[in-house]
Amino acid sequence: MADYQIAPSILSADFARLGEEVDNVLAAGADIVHFDVMDNHYVPNLTIGPMVCKALRKHGVTAPIDVHLMVSPVDRLIGDFAEAGATYITFHPDASTHVDRSLQMIRDAGCKSGLVFNPAMGLDALQYVMDKVDMVLLMSVNPGFGGQSFIPATLDKLREARALIDATGLDIRLEIDGGVSAKNIGEIAAAGADTFVAGSAIFNQPDYAAVIEDMREELAK
Ligand code: DX5
Ligand code: ZN
Repeated sequence: MADYQIAPSILSADFARLGEEVDNVLAAGADIVHFDVMDNHYVPNLTIGPMVCKALRKHGVTAPIDVHLMVSPVDRLIGDFAEAGATYITFHPDASTHVDRSLQMIRDAGCKSGLVFNPAMGLDALQYVMDKVDMVLLMSVNPGFGGQSFIPATLDKLREARALIDATGLDIRLEIDGGVSAKNIGEIAAAGADTFVAGSAIFNQPDYAAVIEDMREELAK
């Protein structure tokens, strides 16, 4: 079986109790923490920045933190997030003028790098930078908000991305973000994803462990 990872999006957590929420979701069996950064410019919403990432590390979070930058410009924040303890830093190629440089900056800062593709965007930007990405993230909703419905056309794009990744033979994760739940995680995995972001599906339920367990059961089928 593939090395599947569940990545709860803390966008749907209770921000007033963030440290506790992250502790709880990791204790419930999550693998990595998905950290959504929105700037009210690239996306029409505003969330959290490097100081909050740093605070989670100071709080004692040792799990990988997967920073999803929905900001433009990108480069200004890379060093700050690396210093704040980010594990992955992913960004949208249409938000950076020099995509290759931004990817290189992320790795030079000691983090793992990734590119994120919005629902209507093709994977062309990957072609010449496959050797510089550790993660490909496909958005299955339009970025900006939690709680939206999974866009089914993303399944075909997942299959396309899976083929591209496998053809390289490189160790690149394929992450999916938006509208993921225990109901659809099976078909999403079958289409090629190995890392699953889920915000509202986890944090809107009282028992995080039960949701994550349901997801793992679907993945094991
Ligand atoms: C959307 C964010 C997602 C979001 C997913 O812009 O990138 O990570 O939190 O939320 P759900 O799982 O509720 O669709
Ligand atoms: Zn995200």
